[in-house]
Amino acid sequence: MSQNATENLLQVKDLTKIFNIRQGLSTKHFTAVDRANFSIHADRPEILTIAGESGSGKTTIARMILGLEDPSAGAIYYKGRDVTKINKKERRSWFMREVQPIFQDPFATFSPLKRVDSYLYETARNYRMVKRDRVDAYIDEALHSVGLSLQEVKGRYPNELSGGQVQRISIARALLTKPSLLVADEPVSMLDASLRMSIVNLFMRLKEERGVSVIYITHDLATAYYAADRIAVMLRGWIVEAGPVEDVLARPLHPYTKILKESVPQADPDRKWEETATLATLETEEYLRAGCKFASRCPATMDVCKTTVPDNYAVAGRTVKCFLYDEKTVGAESVARHVQGEIPLMPAMT
Ligand SMILES: Nc1ncnc2c1ncn2[C@@H]1O[C@H](COP(=O)(O)OP(=O)(O)O)[C@@H](O)[C@H]1O
Ligand SMILES: [Mg+2]
Repeated sequence: MSQNATENLLQVKDLTKIFNIRQGLSTKHFTAVDRANFSIHADRPEILTIAGESGSGKTTIARMILGLEDPSAGAIYYKGRDVTKINKKERRSWFMREVQPIFQDPFATFSPLKRVDSYLYETARNYRMVKRDRVDAYIDEALHSVGLSLQEVKGRYPNELSGGQVQRISIARALLTKPSLLVADEPVSMLDASLRMSIVNLFMRLKEERGVSVIYITHDLATAYYAADRIAVMLRGWIVEAGPVEDVLARPLHPYTKILKESVPQADPDRKWEETATLATLETEEYLRAGCKFASRCPATMDVCKTTVPDNYAVAGRTVKCFLYDEKTVGAESVARHVQGEIPLMPAMT
């Protein structure tokens, strides 16, 4: 598959993860990520958002790309090579340098007992990025590209800095290895709303000025719309709609994307326990469901949705995994109407 090297920086092909869950006395398998396909262009940097409610498989995809979780099936090509098959040494010396993670909780990245700059020196040293006498200048440059300086950061402990500053420092640390791709899993969800845009703007600047691509995982569609070039919307392990962000979010076609767009994004920590329990039950039910996983919540459910898994249909510049866009199921005329935004509203199946 070496032709991928020229076309794509990253190509995820039929990526699948199966977990076991205990239900009473029995153990069931469920597919947390089900044959996910997407790519990042090689010829121009881009921001790809993976969106979807909690429990849709976003983190599992990120962890598989980063090598923190083994795929059950499928492949991950980076610069044309399947990185699920490279050895540890190459992973460390090549892949981990080029593909850097950014995590949700910046304070979990750094120990409260260590000065934050020690992490920057450690990374610069481990990857032997510059000669000893150039290290300070090199770290200062990385901090400048996130709007900070070594002078501001030197000798500070994490609790002396704001969440936004600490997240910037974790991004600066990632930049020290000169990566081509950042995999950022909910990087702003623990920050105040006022700071979110500054991190998202930073990703856009890194793309423009340093040619860094970003996989930006979020359930916040507003920042995704603002920053991303393309979006993949996930539901219970499936990518249900994917395409240019203006098309998908300005005119969503999958009923789930529509509902996601209309609902106010909710932060997990605020959820009450009962609510969380109900959601967990729904999550398990939906993951194990035959047919379309959205059928019980969808306002447009048809009989076929209860029994059969839809394909990914190519319509209006994107792919949609929904029978409303299958000419064989509903006819060409109906597909055209649905693309125009007329979704038949039917009582949801229970
Ligand atoms: N290590 C694991 N073992 C079993 N189930 C897991 C594990 N990690 C995640 N899951 C389950 O996989 C599903 C997808 O989880 P996750 O990828 O964290 O979703 P998201 O990041 O979209 O919230 C959830 O139902 C979650 O409970
Ligand atoms: Mg997650």
